[in-house]
Amino acid sequence: MSKPLVLIALAFLVSGAAGGVAMAEEGEGSLPHSGADINDIESLQRGARNFMNYCSGCHSLKYLRYNRMATDLHIPEPELAANLMFTSDKSFDTIGTSMPADAEGWFGKQPPDLSLMARARSVDYLYAFLKGFYVDKTRPWGTNNLVLPAAAMPDVLASLQGLQKPVFKNEADEHGSANMVLVGVEQMTPGALKPEEYDQFVRDTVNFLDYAAEPVKAKRQSMGVFVTLFLLVFFAFAYMLKKEYWKDVH
Ligand code: HEC
Repeated sequence: MSKPLVLIALAFLVSGAAGGVAMAEEGEGSLPHSGADINDIESLQRGARNFMNYCSGCHSLKYLRYNRMATDLHIPEPELAANLMFTSDKSFDTIGTSMPADAEGWFGKQPPDLSLMARARSVDYLYAFLKGFYVDKTRPWGTNNLVLPAAAMPDVLASLQGLQKPVFKNEADEHGSANMVLVGVEQMTPGALKPEEYDQFVRDTVNFLDYAAEPVKAKRQSMGVFVTLFLLVFFAFAYMLKKEYWKDVH
């Protein structure tokens, strides 16, 4: 192979890897990084527990079966049945919710299934969403959300996080008139968890939702690294062999 061809092949490999990184970061804008790690099994186990305790009353995970979750997250079956399942469910059932299908009347919106939410919105978005509730007396539940304005979901984690109040800033619009713009939130009353503990609680929960959205994600990523390394090594051998074959011809 001539030098330019070698360079082109290498450029392909490098741009492929860079493309993967770029895609992973795409669409996450200025949201803070959640720091969730899908390879951290203990975090996923805590996330599963958080989800079953605080979210499954309203949200289902209709593409994930209990027994698949138990196998992937190394949760023993007796523990699964005792702590993580609705008593009427079987371990081969998908994760449902006790919320009736017509709960729209209660919330204004049906709580969505969360199976694919991490892929639809990104893990960092979910992290910001669960940390973004603030007191807003004009809303039906008395709370609103920084990343989902007029959210129909109540602040279900308020007892853990405490209440947050909105922080506004005066900003002039294009006509020069002053407007109050919401720029962030700040702690108003303490919750049962310290701020770092609450962050970890949310990190575990969104990590679990990331797993639920693609149970093979951790495997896919480690396999990707292996395949890329294999191709690099294979390329070196193929190139040496090609040189050997053609050395008498040129
Ligand atoms: C009391 C019922 C209730 C509980 C409990 C609840 N939610 Fe929700 N959730 C809702 C409703 C209603 C919506 C629809 C909000 C909307 O679209 O305005 C929603 C929407 C969402 C969304 C979608 C946000 C978006 O951008 O569309 C996510 C993510 C979510 N919930 C996560 C959770 C998690 C995680 C938990 C557990 C910690 C949880 N919810 C607990 C009622 C609930």
